[in-house]
Amino acid sequence: CGIVGYVGSQPALDVVIEGLSRLEYRGYDSAGTAVSADGKLTVTKRAGKLANLREALAGAGHSDTGRSGIGHTRWATHGPPNDRNAHPHTDCTGAVAVVHNGIIENFAALRLELEARGHELSSDTDTEAVAHLLEEEVAKGASLADAMRRVCLRLEGAFTLVAVYSGEPDLVVGARRNSPLVVGVGAGENFLASDVAAFIAHTRDAIELGQDQVVELQRSGVTVTGFDGKPADVKEYHVDWDVSAAEKGGHDYFMLKEIAEQPRAVAETLLGRIGADGRLSLDEMRLTDDELRDIDKIIIVACGTAYHAGLIAKYAIEHWTQLPCEVELASEFRYRDPILTRSTLVIAISQSGETMDTLMAVRHAREQRASVLGICNVNGSTIPRECDGVLYTHAGPEIAVASTKAFLTQLIAVYLIALYLAQVRGTKWGDEVFAMIQLLGTMPQKVEQVLETVEPVRDLARSLAGERCVLFLGRHVGFPVALEGALKLKELAYMHAEGFAAGELKHGPIALIEQDLPVVVIVPSRARPVLHDKIVSNIQEIRARGARTIVIAEEGDEAVAPYADTLIRVPAVPTLLQPLVATVPLQVFACELATAQGHDVDQPRNLAKSVTVE
Ligand code: G6P
Repeated sequence: CGIVGYVGSQPALDVVIEGLSRLEYRGYDSAGTAVSADGKLTVTKRAGKLANLREALAGAGHSDTGRSGIGHTRWATHGPPNDRNAHPHTDCTGAVAVVHNGIIENFAALRLELEARGHELSSDTDTEAVAHLLEEEVAKGASLADAMRRVCLRLEGAFTLVAVYSGEPDLVVGARRNSPLVVGVGAGENFLASDVAAFIAHTRDAIELGQDQVVELQRSGVTVTGFDGKPADVKEYHVDWDVSAAEKGGHDYFMLKEIAEQPRAVAETLLGRIGADGRLSLDEMRLTDDELRDIDKIIIVACGTAYHAGLIAKYAIEHWTQLPCEVELASEFRYRDPILTRSTLVIAISQSGETMDTLMAVRHAREQRASVLGICNVNGSTIPRECDGVLYTHAGPEIAVASTKAFLTQLIAVYLIALYLAQVRGTKWGDEVFAMIQLLGTMPQKVEQVLETVEPVRDLARSLAGERCVLFLGRHVGFPVALEGALKLKELAYMHAEGFAAGELKHGPIALIEQDLPVVVIVPSRARPVLHDKIVSNIQEIRARGARTIVIAEEGDEAVAPYADTLIRVPAVPTLLQPLVATVPLQVFACELATAQGHDVDQPRNLAKSVTVE
């Protein structure tokens, strides 16, 4: 969910709505606002996207006298996404309004307790209980900030809460446990939000709230304490990306802009990391060379697209470093008994740095004394703060829900880590490692080349807009690329799409092949003839059974041409680096196919970009 709070001299409603529009990627099942003016709160909320809320506010002829307010854009957890369950939630008297991101795990017990004391709860949410608990405290004479501190101590689970109270009109109070909350520090005005994007148009000075902290936001300043009321130390930082980074810049969708930005994102992520002597320097990772030499096993944890980057990392790490590497979905990791020791390096990959499943995996690994290295895109987010070390990707803000440029930069980060480990620890592939480091530097141009020649992929995607199912096949690193191609199509076009290891086809999935079924095949580089020739056979097998073959192969690979109904060319690069170029046409394919079907690719149904619940 996305949360905004404001206190200042501008009309609060305008600032809050503008902030929400920048956070809509975090959830868009419903939206709402509460503005404090003339001793009372005005709450407006609507199911569906922010546009519905804007319409309702325009229809109500809202007054703009309020100078403090809060807002929320929801990704539903408890209760269906209707008007009633939309945030803000209020208590029976309407004196307190609260918005929430996360899950309050003991909400059922709290509801029963409140009902026993005569409260009537009107929604199905876990959040509403908080509004009633806060109201009980302020009715006893507590300030809103004291009320928040007391109530937070009673809550279990993960939450960001932001509240307003009619009795203290120039105040917004926020609280944070596990879910993100950032303060924007302005002149005579202050902001609260799940992400700096919400207030970047007003200020670039920010404070990241720590775990179990409460913030009081007033016009004149910001006070931060722990849940115990003790003053907390805070560190201000400057956000170095500008407003345009959070805007579409002439593209119809953020996703199109982000696909186009990939060469730059890749270049930025490499910047300063390859030395003039051709060696890598990753000192910023905060793990010493001695620590890296002591590692005897690597486990990668991640979710969604980041998990696919992890699957590719396994091939690179095991090849260049000869260290065993496992890859696991973060949501599964801590529920089995993973074998971790002090010599295990756990790598957590997360664009947002806030994904709860990944965060919990990080905590579990650290409890077992493993070292944890984060690969994250959002500076100062929770996961990098809790890891022993971090390697940031420099993709810039990624707004579209389906990940594109962040994925490519995650690949760069894992290649850098694998090569750096090989450099530090020594490897039997010394010359190859040196050559790969040089080649990485040429990857921005290779990705650019794919984008320049990708137009026929758009035509192809439009021609397939009526299909019900598409399969994706790959071998070696082409297998995770196939999984990623299929995921993109599910996310954006709501189509049945599956990725398979091409060798596994004959053990079951080949039964799915029927006349004209589109099958996308990612062909490995000819530099690996064993792999390459096997997949050429696989293409023939499916074609003989009627499949329509869409083949992604490197320039100059003529062996595949006779079996390709459609041939998509990508620049020739070593197999391990091929995902950097082979994924791009698949992103364009899914994006174009979805828009041809009339879908909003920035905000696919049921999804959210940053999922801060388990
Ligand atoms: C969500 C998004 C996916 C993303 C995944 C992991 O489910 O919809 O696109 O890949 O989270 O996100 P992270 O921020 O941890 O990389």
